[in-house]
Amino acid sequence: MPPVVLKFGGTSVASLSRWQAIAEQIRARLDAGEQPIVVCSAVAGVSDQLVALCEAAPRHEHEPLLDALEALHHHLADAMGVSRDVLADELAMVRRLATGAALLEELTDAVRARILARGELLSTRLGAAWLQQQGLDVRWVDARELLTSVAQPGARGWLQAHVEPGPRDDAKALLGEGAVLTQGFIARSPDGHTVLLGRGGSDTSAALLASRVDAVRCEIWTDVPGMFTADPRQVGAARLLRQLGYAEAQEIATMGAKVLHPRAIAPVRASRIELHVRCTQAPQMPGTVVGPASDEAAQVKAISSRKGIVMVTMETLGMWQEVGFLARAFAAFADEGLSIDSVSTSETSVTVTLDTGATEVDRAALQRVLNRLPPCSPSVREGCASVSLVGRGIRTILHKLASVLELFEEHRVHMVSQAASDLNLTVVVDEDQAPRLVQKLHALLFAHREADDVLGPTWEQLFAPAGTGGLPTPTSTVPWWEQRREELLALAVGGPAYVYDEATLRSQARGLVGMRSVDHVLYAIKANPHPAVLRVLRDEGVGFETVSPGEIARVREHHRDAPILFTPNFAGRQEYVDAFATAGVAVTLDNLHPLEAWPDVFRGRDVFVRIDPGTGRGHHAKVRTAGHASKFGVPQEQLPQLVGLADAAGCRIVGLHAHSGSGVLDPTAWQELALLLGELADGLPSVTTLDLGGGLGVPSHPGQAPLDLTALDACLAEARALRPHLQLQLEPGRFLVAEAGVLLCTVTQLKGKGSLRYVGVDAGMHTLIRPALYGSRHHVVNLSRLGDPPGPPVTVVGPICESGDVLARDRRLPEPREGDVLLFATAGAYGASMSSDYNLRPRAREVLLSS
Ligand code: LLP
Repeated sequence: MPPVVLKFGGTSVASLSRWQAIAEQIRARLDAGEQPIVVCSAVAGVSDQLVALCEAAPRHEHEPLLDALEALHHHLADAMGVSRDVLADELAMVRRLATGAALLEELTDAVRARILARGELLSTRLGAAWLQQQGLDVRWVDARELLTSVAQPGARGWLQAHVEPGPRDDAKALLGEGAVLTQGFIARSPDGHTVLLGRGGSDTSAALLASRVDAVRCEIWTDVPGMFTADPRQVGAARLLRQLGYAEAQEIATMGAKVLHPRAIAPVRASRIELHVRCTQAPQMPGTVVGPASDEAAQVKAISSRKGIVMVTMETLGMWQEVGFLARAFAAFADEGLSIDSVSTSETSVTVTLDTGATEVDRAALQRVLNRLPPCSPSVREGCASVSLVGRGIRTILHKLASVLELFEEHRVHMVSQAASDLNLTVVVDEDQAPRLVQKLHALLFAHREADDVLGPTWEQLFAPAGTGGLPTPTSTVPWWEQRREELLALAVGGPAYVYDEATLRSQARGLVGMRSVDHVLYAIKANPHPAVLRVLRDEGVGFETVSPGEIARVREHHRDAPILFTPNFAGRQEYVDAFATAGVAVTLDNLHPLEAWPDVFRGRDVFVRIDPGTGRGHHAKVRTAGHASKFGVPQEQLPQLVGLADAAGCRIVGLHAHSGSGVLDPTAWQELALLLGELADGLPSVTTLDLGGGLGVPSHPGQAPLDLTALDACLAEARALRPHLQLQLEPGRFLVAEAGVLLCTVTQLKGKGSLRYVGVDAGMHTLIRPALYGSRHHVVNLSRLGDPPGPPVTVVGPICESGDVLARDRRLPEPREGDVLLFATAGAYGASMSSDYNLRPRAREVLLSS
């Protein structure tokens, strides 16, 4: 039986229906006379939980995480009808390892590797038991018996081990004849210890196993139907790539596409095994085939983009006819372990980029490199992104790219580099420019091309709306929290928790960043300043809007170079002084007082001026921030006086700002602001930017129409066309985070009193104050009994000593019992950030579920 390797990722092993799909694939392979070797990742979310466990154990904070891990797997076992006993050994082992680390108050890499390996061991134990129950002849094999790393684990070897590809008879013998289920990500060191293959390790495992047994194919099953000409979440018109050479696929994967891990290609390439990228939800589709290159014409195949790039420029006259400058400069980087990604040289300067990858560049190491470079003046630019055109023979088609290169006129290009392999042309731009540049380049290069052997349909065509023959959209109408119910139920163990969904954060950000008429999107971090939320949004090209020194510090702690707008209200003098002293912070004035009383603070500075547009908007009087009754903004009639004071202080007005309120669903609201500010800017030639504030609303109950971004874009485009020299900026908080967050809590007690039925939960007004403060309505569901018929209306209350401690009134839920998990939707904005420890009750935990 010729072996074929199939790899399934975390979401593909996270539910009964997904295991049914795996079983179908196994049957189909067996029927076709092939031997399926199935490689599985840990259940989605589990690897993150294990990482958190490794951090928590030395601090003795591991118990709730162990409970959550156990609960998640037990839920899944119950749902699949598999005895929990099959998990017992592995769960006991995690517990032993974490308890040991807690006793020692430290965790070695060796123990970390053993803890992290448990995710795959657990998922495959469960899967194998279920597949066998279905009558399939499947054997569970320990991947550590099949893959041995090349060296004894050294500094990074425990977590990033290297395994040499190539066929081995002992592996073939071990796999025998029938179907096999094994783990991704894990291997064994020559002296018998558990080691890991690093990020994306399951793809690498699959490719290595394929080469071990000389497989006829290696199939990587994912959530997307193949590799695309651009990241489809960023560019809806991204085209499916039907065929790619190994080198091109490697380049696309390396340059930022996340479908396939770049390290998975070398092993199959060495053995010339075809690699197929397939889609679990659409098994009928052929996906992308990566194989030995055919001799087709040179062409751009994809546009990819990578963020977090640091650029170092070394200016020197000394290099002219100087021998060895580059060698000495590169040695300095190499000695500090900093990997150079691309280089561009001239006789007087050398520019290199460093890819920070998943980890931050070690700043101390970078400083040491700068200190010991050969004589030159070095400068460092952080917060860059690379945008690459990828495809074979790029050099030969440069002349065809003329119109594409024209685009760069509008964007500040810091560096251009053409790979020696002739596989890519890369430009380096500021991080927040990258998403827009990718979209424009893609439209120019791919929009009008006919489908052929290489280029397939667009993502949008594939995922056309239901009923039109398309695939089910990954962002379907089923809310994310329903799709991730099992993980959420597990997370609810151990007290109330705010849980945020990375994919939703990203798609909200992409909606805004993708608008043609908006130049900059700043995230108002008051809505949710959790560092993981900031990281994801920054990664999407979003800057930050802040209202306090604390918020500025929070952003700077994690993002040294992100643009920040500081919009304080009635702040003291020192806050302005400190903000001006912080690099990259723009400051908004919303009163005459600072210029009258402290003109010295503003001398030589640029400022934004917040105008009161006269009419407030928003979901509640307390959040309407304009008009006579509000304390915000400079009334329009005071603007001339403010301009005089600014002139006298020697301060330049570079932006006008307005924010009329929060929770607005009418797209014309921001057009009105743009027109008003535009008119005011006509008299102020130094103004370059109009900030139209935030306030973008989200539906507060199921069925309510969301804000129409296309309409908003059209409205703003009209305003923009009137004054094309002015840039437009938005600073939403709620829109970016609200729907990405839910609050989970657990039913504590039930009470019938008078005509009301109370359901008590372990969260209260200290956890989520919006219902008490604004009468806000959050959709509530009984997550433990999702889909059951609703019972009589209930009032959901917390444990706080006030009658105002009500989270929801008059709701019909599947009848709650003690221990049930209730979920409050749309709680990602102004939930955790407005919570307190009133009554000395602790705040809810916050967890980001990665995508
Ligand atoms: N810009 C300024 C100047 C603001 O004052 C605010 C919010 C925003 C932007 C962001 O507004 P958003 O896009 O999130 O609507 N706690 C209330 C909301 C208060 C909003 C205060 N200012 C709530 O829970 O509904």
